[in-house]
Amino acid sequence: MRNISFGKPIIGDEERNAVLEVLKGSQFVHGPLAKKFEADFAGFIGGGYAHTVASCTAGLHLAYIYLGIGPGDEVIVPAQTHVATAHSVEYTGARPVFVDVDATTGNIDIDGIEAAISPHTKAISVVHYLGLPVDMDKVNALARKHNLFVVEDAALALGARYKGVHAGLMGDVGSFSFYPVKHITTAEGGMFTTRHADVAEKVARLKAFGYDKMVGERVVPGLYDVDLLGYNYRMNEIEAAIGVEQLKRVGGFLVKRAANDTALRKALEGIDEITCLSAGGGDFEHAHYCLVAVLGETVAEKRYDIINGMRDMGVGTSVYYPGPVPHLRYYREKYDLGRVDFPNATRISNQSLALSVGPHLDEEDMIYVGRVLKQILGALK
Ligand SMILES: Cc1ncc(COP(=O)(O)O)c(C=O)c1O
Repeated sequence: MRNISFGKPIIGDEERNAVLEVLKGSQFVHGPLAKKFEADFAGFIGGGYAHTVASCTAGLHLAYIYLGIGPGDEVIVPAQTHVATAHSVEYTGARPVFVDVDATTGNIDIDGIEAAISPHTKAISVVHYLGLPVDMDKVNALARKHNLFVVEDAALALGARYKGVHAGLMGDVGSFSFYPVKHITTAEGGMFTTRHADVAEKVARLKAFGYDKMVGERVVPGLYDVDLLGYNYRMNEIEAAIGVEQLKRVGGFLVKRAANDTALRKALEGIDEITCLSAGGGDFEHAHYCLVAVLGETVAEKRYDIINGMRDMGVGTSVYYPGPVPHLRYYREKYDLGRVDFPNATRISNQSLALSVGPHLDEEDMIYVGRVLKQILGALK
């Protein structure tokens, strides 16, 4: 029996030594490693401005603070996502307006966006679902038509490109996550990205209390003024040290993910009871966070038996995500959304299995996962 975990950070001596070097010194915040990580990250995604942040959620929140949105304003959000996509809007007092997703990709239904725009709408938030880029030409055209800001939740999209442009640089701003099972990790952490110099300049201050002068810029140590209600959303040097090393490996990680995805799709061929979400291709360069198999109606009710059966045979799975966000209790009760239907998000949430294609696994593992799923589904007949 194999032991296939859903997610496993790959940390080597390079990361461990880099952390020890930071701890040998005394500069744990405001240091050179956060700056280096930002420069390297901007280099990897091919331009723009990158700012380290405490988490992807913090980066998304900063986008809305930058916009100055608040009570009475609305932001369009996909129904099928992590709760952070909506929470970051909710923190400001603005209202997330949920739109269903496409059944084959899990990405926001672009026709649904236009229908949801109101005079109160200030921004569109898109999520590159599990690493598959959204059709951004269409989203940006809508944003231009209605004068809206575009926020990319790129938590799972490191390596995703649309028409050659990396996620985080297609809309107005983007935010990436470095939580442990993501494409790269800093334990907790994230990166805010933008194409716009003025947004980058203001967000750099918003993430650090609204200081007018950062630590290295102060003529007299400790003296600064504050003209913005900023937050403490910085990344520390220990996390940045890990990030610098992880980023050196990201090319290899992405090659492995793509190869595993191909091998797993092949291993799942011929299983009639499942449909896999889109593999991307052409203009849509997938970052392959994981592969989601949606169970057909005949076996969907047995999802937990299937998950448990796979676990018993050494295959870890996950669920992305546990429910359409508007049906999670906080949103359901606050906005009375229980009876509003999001059929595609509901189907993906309730009927799917998320299978790992992480770089800790190889082709033999993918063949094994396919064999195990076939065996379990066969036994249900
Ligand atoms: C789509 C999406 N957005 C945001 C987040 C939150 O990321 P973080 O934990 O870095 O705040 C996640 C976490 O999994 C996510 O999947």
